[in-house]
Amino acid sequence: MKKPHISINLAMTADGKISPHQNSPSHFTSQADFNRLLELRKNADALLVGRKTWITDQMTLTAPDTPLAKQPLRCVASRSGHFPLDHPMFQKEGGRIFLLAEQAQKQSLTPKSAEIFHGSLSEWLRRLAEEQSVKKLHCEGGSQLIQTLAHLFGIDTLYLTWAGHTLFGGENALKLTGSPQPEWLQSQHFTLEDFEITAQGEAFLTYQKRK
Ligand SMILES: NC(=O)c1ccc[n+]([C@@H]2O[C@H](COP(=O)([O-])OP(=O)(O)OC[C@H]3O[C@@H](n4cnc5c(N)ncnc54)[C@H](OP(=O)(O)O)[C@@H]3O)[C@@H](O)[C@H]2O)c1
Repeated sequence: MKKPHISINLAMTADGKISPHQNSPSHFTSQADFNRLLELRKNADALLVGRKTWITDQMTLTAPDTPLAKQPLRCVASRSGHFPLDHPMFQKEGGRIFLLAEQAQKQSLTPKSAEIFHGSLSEWLRRLAEEQSVKKLHCEGGSQLIQTLAHLFGIDTLYLTWAGHTLFGGENALKLTGSPQPEWLQSQHFTLEDFEITAQGEAFLTYQKRK
């Protein structure tokens, strides 16, 4: 298959953490950073998040100022297949919803508006690329999913907000890679393409994978 272009958007504290601990919502950056997150969605064919981020941050995954027909697909990856039916994404109008439930039984409850796939992450992404013409896949976390994506496919573009105003500390704070031994980072190299310092004590960085 032709792999989609994979971009990632994350915010990281001065000590390299993306969340104080699992299950903690990640609202520690400025309105300007949130606007950037929304802006980046506009360029994607599909948005992708891990189930924990989707639950913790109650994400509806819509792009602003975009007609319904052009909204990116909304994709949530899970092994367990536990997708609460009262989640706000299922109530909010937006792009078509695609759910991965890798290990779940086929009869698990699914909202009528969603298409559910039972299989591996790589097979699901292959189908999205081939059957839904997903050429630009944009992932908004979390660290577990990013690590798997990086390992399976590599990351093409990394949008990183460095939040110089915050330290999380603590052993349980999540790092970008989600693992104490991020082997994949040792074999992936990026070029820093853009570096913008904001008045809010943050820096917006854009990295491209080195050819
Ligand atoms: N600072 C930021 O920019 C930022 C961005 C995003 C998230 N966050 C924070 O990060 C935390 C969540 O991150 P996380 O790393 O704990 O979790 P995550 O990556 O969001 O989600 C992990 C879950 O995704 C599913 N998953 C992961 N890999 C999979 C695979 N290969 N195939 C199928 N399903 C897969 C599994 O779901 P099941 O449990 O259903 O099996 C897994 O438990 C939250 O606190 C959130 O606020 C911060």
